[in-house]
Amino acid sequence: MKITITGTGYVGLVTGVCLSDVGHQITCYDIDQEKIDLLNSGKSPIYEPGLDELIQKNIAIGRLLFTADVKEAYSDADSIFIAVGTPPNDDGSANLSYIESAAIDIAKYITKDCIVVTKSTVPVGTNEHIGRIIQEQLPADLKVKIVSNPEFLREGSAIHDTFNGDRIVIGSDDQEAGKTIEEIYAPFKLPVVRTDLRSAEMIKYASNSFLALKISFINEIANLCEKVGGNIEQVATGVGLDKRIGNKFLQAGIGFGGSCFPKDINALNHLANEYDYDFKILKSVIDVNRLQKERLFHKAKETLGSLSGKKVTILGLTFKPNTDDIRDAASLKMIQDLLLEDAVVTVYDPVGMPKVEKLYGDKIQYGSSAEKALENSEVAFILTEWDEIKNLSLETFKNYMKKPILFDGRNCFKLEDAENHGLQYYSIGRRP
Ligand code: UGA
Repeated sequence: MKITITGTGYVGLVTGVCLSDVGHQITCYDIDQEKIDLLNSGKSPIYEPGLDELIQKNIAIGRLLFTADVKEAYSDADSIFIAVGTPPNDDGSANLSYIESAAIDIAKYITKDCIVVTKSTVPVGTNEHIGRIIQEQLPADLKVKIVSNPEFLREGSAIHDTFNGDRIVIGSDDQEAGKTIEEIYAPFKLPVVRTDLRSAEMIKYASNSFLALKISFINEIANLCEKVGGNIEQVATGVGLDKRIGNKFLQAGIGFGGSCFPKDINALNHLANEYDYDFKILKSVIDVNRLQKERLFHKAKETLGSLSGKKVTILGLTFKPNTDDIRDAASLKMIQDLLLEDAVVTVYDPVGMPKVEKLYGDKIQYGSSAEKALENSEVAFILTEWDEIKNLSLETFKNYMKKPILFDGRNCFKLEDAENHGLQYYSIGRRP
């Protein structure tokens, strides 16, 4: 069976590599020849722990091919997984142009009956739309069936998540097509949920929105703890032990970022509006997250009066640890706010700096280490909980900074430790 994956972003690449690792013959297709060349040399274009090794292993076995040639990708394919991006339009809706052009190419270049599987996150109804596009252009002697198979992996733990996911969702209005895709996933030995097309599409948006809701909710409880007393970590532990709630995604912080939650909840909100449904909770999640990202900046301004001319250090730029992704990261909003205040900004991140440098160039400075970035600084912000940052000794802040004032957006340190080290320390949901 020839399986082709279209799009070598996080979802497509990890899916392709893991499917080949369980024994399938996989062709990964991308229009970006440079990316394909890099992949053929055994290197991943994205930072994802463990991915390079799996790519090299499966290329060597001969089960994993990368190509930028559309004919090679689609001819003889038994199933094609679409995993291209659905970036946000200005109005928050999902941009389906990459999906649509993949559908047109599939209709043009397949040479036998084929199952088209959508892995990209798409609004409800899109799979039917894909089916119609393909049908319009397809030669009369060929048949295509459509399956929706949303992805739930997280950046930074993508391989682990693929092999150990909670479920595989397979949505199709054609039972046989759904069964074929279920068989492809059989080696993963994970629970399978079979649904109709539209329900599968909704499961993805509902899952991401619910997780985002959990984060915004715990962030609001944290904000309230700061006012009324109480320690958000203790509160989250006590709440999370209730199995009906669960202890995951209850880590209060500076709000969620990344390429998925912000985009997907906006797209779901847009979809609801289109159908004249006022999705109140979702709008609140979006609002709460926007305010949460500004919270530490305002706290710092309140504490210091003005930040103008002051050397300010940001530790952690990526939207979470173990990724080089800075999309919708809290750091970007922070840098922007600090520059508007005329602060002198120095940043450090174990892997995220090149991407930030592309955006801000010499408007800010880049430390070669956390210590260098902290040198003579008057205020420091922690925005990503990289191990390297969490493991910094509190002495470091005292020794390198001019004044050790630390705003910790990820609660990396214990309050007592910060106090014992004489730090002026502000965190989330914990009173100093
Ligand atoms: C998210 C979902 O977790 C995946 O299931 C989904 O497949 C993926 O989106 C997607 O749609 O492709 P991801 O964006 O990689 O995965 O990252 P998460 O680990 O979910 O974190 C998202 C954001 O929430 C980060 O900024 C993180 O710092 C924040 N977060 C997470 C919190 O602030 N608190 C928490 O308790 C958990």
